[in-house]
Amino acid sequence: MARPTSATIHIDALRHNLGQVRRLAPASRVMAVVKADGYGHGLERVARALSGADAFGVAALSDAERLRAAGLSQPIVLLSGFDAAEDLPKLRELNVDTVVHHAAQLEMLEQADGDPIRCWLKVDTGMHRLGFAPEAVAQAHARLSKAKSVAGDIRLMTHFASSDELDELAPGNRQTRAQMRAFEQVAADLPGARSLANAAAVLGWPAAHADWVRPGGALYGISVVDGKTGADFGLKPAMTLSTRLIAVNRIRKGERIGYSATWECPEDMPVGVAAIGYGDGYPRHAPAGTPVLVNGRRAPIVGRVSMDLMTVDLRAQPEAKPGDPVVLWGEALPVEEIAAAAGTIGYELTCSITRRVRFVED
Ligand SMILES: Cc1ncc(COP(=O)(O)O)c(C=O)c1O
Repeated sequence: MARPTSATIHIDALRHNLGQVRRLAPASRVMAVVKADGYGHGLERVARALSGADAFGVAALSDAERLRAAGLSQPIVLLSGFDAAEDLPKLRELNVDTVVHHAAQLEMLEQADGDPIRCWLKVDTGMHRLGFAPEAVAQAHARLSKAKSVAGDIRLMTHFASSDELDELAPGNRQTRAQMRAFEQVAADLPGARSLANAAAVLGWPAAHADWVRPGGALYGISVVDGKTGADFGLKPAMTLSTRLIAVNRIRKGERIGYSATWECPEDMPVGVAAIGYGDGYPRHAPAGTPVLVNGRRAPIVGRVSMDLMTVDLRAQPEAKPGDPVVLWGEALPVEEIAAAAGTIGYELTCSITRRVRFVED
């Protein structure tokens, strides 16, 4: 029998979420960020569902190859930029825009021949990951403008470190305002379309929407805003992770469950065994008490999550039996809640689903 573990991808939810992004940022074009295999939902599947986007953002040239092979003709932006001069012919062949964030890339573009490539000049306004320091941007822009291998309409972008902190008193809120000011100053004298907003900024920072928004998480229905789920912003989760119970055992009071015997039964009780574990991408560090849905009703995990299995407290539904459905996250159990219990964000959970999980679409 096939393992009953599956990730159902809701195509309508993806489309709905793109619509919601457009409603929230009506004056902006939308670059749908589909890196990391569409945040674990499946690159081609997601891109087809989001074919109404104005562009796709990817992290690797191989993603762009896959999108073109799947027949998608929208503009594609390589968000981490190219690494080597040898990548440039590939960018042209695939008609991919590149982010330019580093002096070495400027040199490679200046020395290159061939059809012009569209560039998104990245400004480091305070995240200190990728981008030119504000004081270096004018010169980088001037060099790009002169390079024959660079298309005329150079675009300007930056990335926020803490736009998920919507509370005005949160330290990250001040940082986002500072990043916006720094970007405005740098961009004031330069032509070209502007892009600042990731998903959290689409949801919470309308003043940062500018010409292009670049949401990832929101398209999958996932919020990274503390204490809020995608549903709080009118988004729908695009993934339901589910499995079934494969055993229900009655365990005696005082017995301990699972590896390292971390959880002790406080009374004689039914314990369900669900066919999912960290080998499927469910986080091993989700503690006892993290909820799952058995037959649509909440039941807490007990003991350690193991590679193929997890154990759940069925005291609230002693009638549950092998074969009954178990949902790990989805519309009725937000992935954000599981992520909070496991000390991470929803993106990491959906990105971590492994290949042995069956993907289905509805
Ligand atoms: C440059 C850039 N833009 C946009 C995004 C999308 O971020 P989010 O999924 O939070 O919207 C990312 C993702 O990390 C990114 O690196």
